[in-house]
Amino acid sequence: MPSEALAWLAVVLSAHGLLLPGVSGVDRGQFPPDFLFGTAASAYQVEGGYLEGNKGLSNWDMFTHKQGTIEDGSNGDIANDLYHRYMDDTELMHSLGVNSYRFSISWARILPRGRFGDVNQDGVAFYNALIDGLLQRGIQPFVTICHYDIPQELEERYGGWLSTEIQKDFCYFAEICFKMFGDRHLQEKYQGKQGGQIGIVMCVTWYEPFRNTTVDLLAVRRALSFGASWFLDPILLGDYPTEMREMLGPNLPEFTSKQKNRLQDTKLDFIGLNHYTTFYLKDCSFSPCEIDPLTWNARVMRLPKRDGVLIGETTGSPFFLDVPRGMEEMTMYYKERYNNTPTYITENGIASSLSMVFV
Ligand SMILES: *[C@@H]1O[C@H](CO)[C@@H](O)[C@H](O)[C@H]1NC(C)=O
Repeated sequence: MPSEALAWLAVVLSAHGLLLPGVSGVDRGQFPPDFLFGTAASAYQVEGGYLEGNKGLSNWDMFTHKQGTIEDGSNGDIANDLYHRYMDDTELMHSLGVNSYRFSISWARILPRGRFGDVNQDGVAFYNALIDGLLQRGIQPFVTICHYDIPQELEERYGGWLSTEIQKDFCYFAEICFKMFGDRHLQEKYQGKQGGQIGIVMCVTWYEPFRNTTVDLLAVRRALSFGASWFLDPILLGDYPTEMREMLGPNLPEFTSKQKNRLQDTKLDFIGLNHYTTFYLKDCSFSPCEIDPLTWNARVMRLPKRDGVLIGETTGSPFFLDVPRGMEEMTMYYKERYNNTPTYITENGIASSLSMVFV
């Protein structure tokens, strides 16, 4: 990775505008040669093959199969069938001209029962074949170790991420991934130099105050604390954001001094930024208004319009308005708050239809 302030990975969900010369006046020649253009997906979104190759059931398999949880009753049993079509799909990526692919490893495909069972060699073979296919086409793998899906057994044994037990399972899984898939990367390009980079990806929305008032400006700070900084502040600054402490009081756990010491030793090689949209934000802490449940406990209301004017252009999804300046503000917020930690744009783009979903 370059040593500049920000290393960029543009994730092309809607590839055309970015890659075709002439469209919106941007072409590839304007970017440095080592700039990474990529596509991104998560295992549950695209793999399918939910019972194939000795895969275990994941919490997402269980959730989508439970009647009434998904409005139209659909699920990811087959999804994009990447499990069978990965060679065609890597070829398609190659033909698009991308040189990186961010994908996630299905935990239940590698460890069907978490640390309570064996490593599934079929699963290892699948990801090895996928990684080899990508490398053969000059596409750099960008691996997400967990994209929300965990083996169902961990959910049943101790409630998944709600229990600190998951630390043992996650470490075990991560180590297996590094051992099984990391070596190739060393052998390839970075042998003797670098063992790859480890970071965490945040999905973040930018906010602008609805009115230029102290309460709305404070509302923006609260919403960013709950949204953009909740996880990164502890890792990089050693504690939860002040605004969260103020709002949640004793409900927010305190770190023990041992945990604080461990946090101080934490190194994060990069921040991954998933960013799609920006909203206006209105205070609901000092003023009466309808609190948006998507903003956790920040006591704010998100609004797409001010004085009858939308904040950005509409897209295929009502959740996303196109506000380019929000991306710049968001990256600057991280740059300033986290002392210039290298940042990749790990997701970005416009929704072309309502069917765009997050898993
Ligand atoms: C907001 O208000 C302050 C002082 O009241 C003023 O200095 C500033 O220019 C205003 N900003 C905007 C964007 O209107």
